[in-house]
Amino acid sequence: MSYSFPIHRVLGIFIKMAPKNILLIGGHGRTAQLLTPLLLARSWNVTSLIRTEAQRDAILQLGKGQPGKIDVLIIDLETVKTEDDARVIIDRARPDYVVWAAGASGKSDPKTIYAVDRDAAKSLFRASVSTPTITKILSISHLGSRKAHPSWWSEEEWKYIQYANSLHYDTYLAKSEADELFTALARRRVVEGGDEAFQGILLRPGRLADGEAEGKVDLGQCRPGRPVTRADVAMVANELLAREDTWGWADIAGGDEGIGHAVERVGTSRPRVDAIEGEDLDRIYSLK
Ligand SMILES: *[C@@H]1O[C@H](CO)[C@@H](O)[C@H](O)[C@H]1NC(C)=O
Repeated sequence: MSYSFPIHRVLGIFIKMAPKNILLIGGHGRTAQLLTPLLLARSWNVTSLIRTEAQRDAILQLGKGQPGKIDVLIIDLETVKTEDDARVIIDRARPDYVVWAAGASGKSDPKTIYAVDRDAAKSLFRASVSTPTITKILSISHLGSRKAHPSWWSEEEWKYIQYANSLHYDTYLAKSEADELFTALARRRVVEGGDEAFQGILLRPGRLADGEAEGKVDLGQCRPGRPVTRADVAMVANELLAREDTWGWADIAGGDEGIGHAVERVGTSRPRVDAIEGEDLDRIYSLK
């Protein structure tokens, strides 16, 4: 996205951030559970939105010995159908930042996929972006959530991603609709609303792996080749959230660049590195 880059985005790097309240939607997901302790270690408080009572203890455990405070909010995202439904959640958690890390599981039926990945996501994005005290939203999506062949992928890579999308077609459609709306709303708040401090970030992993963090990734406009561990995705999300200069689409795959360096590069490079390049921006930015 070609925003101007205001001076506070540069200065923000040098100013230590005051503790924040985070609403983490989909808190029981594997990446979310890896991200939670990293946020708590910053003395940030986390409200972890989870689906059932049965998940409560596992989440509260993540707060043991941490300076930040963890809390849970039990809500089935399938019941979040409107912006007003989402507003109830925002009003309870009173977050500074919102992280969307939810997703219907791969085995879900289409009804659940559209209810969670599209309708609940869109409702929460609408409510969050329109809340002035929420200054940052990071959504974890998927590198394949795009409609155009990016110039930095080969023909084979584009075919492979289209094939992979066809195997999870409902998830692909639901997620890309939510991603595009979020992108439009975030841009409108910055460009038309004049809120240049607002950050709308889409972190978009390719194939995910379990196991130890490598501390190295490929970030920004990257190729779909190597899998990335959820632990590395969580570390990158944590780093992106701690900066004032990151927004737009950042794809992430396994790679060789140290996480600190990769995030610094994406935050400070001019022109900006944005994986939205190649998409139909006029169409996306006009979505309502
Ligand atoms: C985090 O929670 C603690 C304990 O309730 C509270 O004292 C602190 O002010 C909270 N931090 C923020 C940033 O609101």
